[in-house]
Amino acid sequence: MAPIHIDEATGSDDTGKGTPEAPYKSLAFALYTHPDGAFVIRKDATVSFEEPTQSALKKAKKSADGIEKKRKKAEELAEREAKESAATREKKEKKLEESKKIVLTMDESLPTPVKAKIGKLTPLRAKRIRTSGWVHRLRDQKEIIFIVLRDGTGYLQCVLSGQVAQTYDALTLTLESTIEVVGTLKEVPEGQTAPGGHELVVDYWRTLGAAPGGDDAFTNRLNEKSDPSIQADLRHLVIRGETASAVLKLRAALLASFRSSLVARDLTEVTPPCMVQTQVEGGATLFKFDYYGQPAFLTQSSQLYLETCLPSIGDVFCVQESFRAENSHTRRHLSEYTHLEGELAFITFDDLMDHIESVICDTVDGLLADPVGAALIKQLNPDFQAPARPFMRLAYTDAIKWLNEHGIEHEAEDKDGNVIKDEQGNPVMVPHKVGDDIAEAAERRMTDILARPIFLYGFPAELKAFYMKKMEKKEGDEYPDVAFTESCDLLMPGVGEIVGGSMRIADEQELLAAYRREGIDPEPYYWFTDQRKYGTCEHGGYGLGVERFLAWLANRYTVRECSLYPRWPGRATP
Ligand code: 4AD
Repeated sequence: MAPIHIDEATGSDDTGKGTPEAPYKSLAFALYTHPDGAFVIRKDATVSFEEPTQSALKKAKKSADGIEKKRKKAEELAEREAKESAATREKKEKKLEESKKIVLTMDESLPTPVKAKIGKLTPLRAKRIRTSGWVHRLRDQKEIIFIVLRDGTGYLQCVLSGQVAQTYDALTLTLESTIEVVGTLKEVPEGQTAPGGHELVVDYWRTLGAAPGGDDAFTNRLNEKSDPSIQADLRHLVIRGETASAVLKLRAALLASFRSSLVARDLTEVTPPCMVQTQVEGGATLFKFDYYGQPAFLTQSSQLYLETCLPSIGDVFCVQESFRAENSHTRRHLSEYTHLEGELAFITFDDLMDHIESVICDTVDGLLADPVGAALIKQLNPDFQAPARPFMRLAYTDAIKWLNEHGIEHEAEDKDGNVIKDEQGNPVMVPHKVGDDIAEAAERRMTDILARPIFLYGFPAELKAFYMKKMEKKEGDEYPDVAFTESCDLLMPGVGEIVGGSMRIADEQELLAAYRREGIDPEPYYWFTDQRKYGTCEHGGYGLGVERFLAWLANRYTVRECSLYPRWPGRATP
């Protein structure tokens, strides 16, 4: 009989066969598998195979016995578990079968329940109530079932016990099913917590729509570990979560607060069109489409339409979707975003910045004064503090100096706008100079270092849109050859630019020259030009990115979390 080979260095007890080519690793395992075999062993390939010593054999025998004992024990355990699980299964099945016989009925002798939404239950404590919602959380504890029910207005802890917890529906209840519950609302005893400070002791309930269990169960489709692209595909399920729904609620409260600040300043809300045939912020970011055979665009900004409202209904604002075909995958860019825009007549540039600052501060104060708004901010951004006034005002030219003093450089570009790279392929960094665009990275670093809201104002005309009013040149101007505009961006720590605003060109000839400079055909803008023809006025306005503002307020990592169904390059579903 050929001897069994063991190599203590390269052998394997899992895949080895005991041959010279595929030796085992341990003498104990060789003995266990071949109790009557003959063995040769080596430490490693530098020595030859030899018979094991008697003492080595004795030691290995003991270990081989141990392996056998372990195997037996595992076998016994598996057998026992199989028996047990069969018994449990049988018991469970029996219980399920029995449960089908339990039919819950409404006890008509009890007081008629009052139907109410979860968020409105506090005044109904001690009363019998009826409400419906989705099973948000589910815990089965020794014959008692605890459910946290969600209906969008709040969360309600429901306690099911006795027969109420033994029906077939109770035993097969799944997360995200819809149910109706009837019971008595009780304040939770001191020391215990439940949402709203009360819980429903259920005496009757029924399933309205059962959600699947097993492989298709809600938590199998979506959980905290789900990949971002899956989360994006399942945004309709993500918004059922506590954080995502709180962001959406805060968004609604924010818009309401903005509206009341604006209305308090006598601005009237209007609803301009989204399908347009003019550009506002440059042709590069326009979404184009076919409009009955004519080219048309999705609006980039409602500003031009707001300007036409000034002679009609006075100062105006709108909350409207804007669209930008930017191939930006940053955490502050969306292809479609909610744009809050305002336009004011007979004002100065300082009036405009004062207005933006006060609207923002009043809106935040309004939210904090409202218990619902304040609770949502506390939940999402516990460290939030209302910004201190006045906001810092920093001229563009001073910002360029500040960036250079702080060693914040930008990527050098050739005349075609391509980034210049060094031999290693890294971008060449250069200091800023007047005329340069302050790129997102530099702007973000500056905002984070200064750590407060900043009005950055007076950008060069070259960098800005055609409609912006130029600043008057003063004696001793440091940059006599550069035309600056009465424009401002409001920068917030953590997010960067959240508002862009400016005074507008009020003079017709100056506007016509601006169209020419930008290569814009004035024809489709006849109605915008008419504003300067029929009683012009000094006026200005601004646009605020609602998702960016919300990202700042709720401390969200990206604007994508602040939109109901965010759109970005390559994503227009669900
Ligand atoms: O600075 P912007 O381009 O200004 C305008 O559109 C002006 N016509 C507004 C006006 O004066 N009525 O955009 C204004 C704001 C930005 O500050 C930013 O908050 C937001 O709109 N914004 C975006 N938000 C998300 N994704 C994008 N791609 C955005 N582009 C601009």
